[in-house]
Amino acid sequence: MSITPVICGFGHYAPEKIVSNQDLEKLVDTSDEWITTRTGIKQRHIVVPGEQSSSDLALEASKMALADAGLSPKDLTHILFATLTPDTYCPSAACYLEQKLGVRGLMAMDLNAACSGFLYSLQTARAMVALDPDAVVLVAASEVLSSRVNWTDRSTCVLFGDGSGAAVVTADTGAGKAQVLDLILGSDGNLTDLLLIPAGGSRFPLELGGTVDKESYIQLNGPDVFKHAVREMEAITNTLLEKNGLAVEDIDLFVPHQANVRIIDALAKRVGVPPEKVFVNIDRYGNTSAASVPIALSDALQQNAIQPGMRILITTFGAGFTWGSCILQF
Ligand code: COA
Repeated sequence: MSITPVICGFGHYAPEKIVSNQDLEKLVDTSDEWITTRTGIKQRHIVVPGEQSSSDLALEASKMALADAGLSPKDLTHILFATLTPDTYCPSAACYLEQKLGVRGLMAMDLNAACSGFLYSLQTARAMVALDPDAVVLVAASEVLSSRVNWTDRSTCVLFGDGSGAAVVTADTGAGKAQVLDLILGSDGNLTDLLLIPAGGSRFPLELGGTVDKESYIQLNGPDVFKHAVREMEAITNTLLEKNGLAVEDIDLFVPHQANVRIIDALAKRVGVPPEKVFVNIDRYGNTSAASVPIALSDALQQNAIQPGMRILITTFGAGFTWGSCILQF
């Protein structure tokens, strides 16, 4: 008997501090007009450095998701933590989150698929539930990208924000909010150098007494990433629709990764989704990488943009490159 995984709770959280485009005008040679027209971003949430780590943000999003599911941390069997900005390089952010949730003994691990991290983790959660129908999997996606942004580089620092989203995944016992109807993923490791944080890993190890330079921060070939993002997101969206015998008209709401409103618009146009069926919140959050999709889902639910009975299509794209697409039936 095949098991249908469901999401039974959603949550999100962003730090209190808001950095507007006008604030960034004081930091680098940019303007609200450039940022708004080129990206759609008006503001982003940023942690106060040293006060909040990725697991702190994930704790708040996870509490909301657990409350939404009517569950407590003690009900959890697994924690999957999607991030490219963990609290520490080692141990995993999942272990910090487990400690902050006041539980122990779970299978807890991080998963890095950059901006596609939530869908990669959701796929892993589906596998956990298929292995064990009693599994209760917390998928937390959380980023403190402000810690890896070069605040003197106007071409990247305006794009990103901090935040977290979470979902609780179980087998379908009738209490789920959304069935995961299908989910497919992809990647291309030939294009790693278009979007990366070069230093700090084994490729360019840290040196004792060495200086921190721009290699320690996010580097991005914006126009090339833009082109690949639109192309791959269009391809995987169409593949998923076709695989499930669905037309774009069968989708009630499209929830894409929030990297740039122009990427979203180009993708929607190519796939044939009308603007009123596309959920956008990049204006308020910026690009929160792995957290972008679960923040958007939880935000859309809070705004009643998602209602019971709706079929939702999600598509993501991130460094690697990685990409994915998923259909949720609410
Ligand atoms: N403010 C003002 N001017 C800026 C700027 C800023 N914050 N950032 C870049 N510019 C300038 C550039 O220096 C360039 O000037 P030049 O023509 O004198 O050389 C000009 O704006 C155009 O830059 P370009 O990079 O071609 O702009 P773009 O239209 O491609 O937009 C991005 C840049 C980054 C917004 C866009 O390419 C993008 O969103 N890419 C993908 C985002 C991404 O990678 N997301 C993460 C993965 S999902």
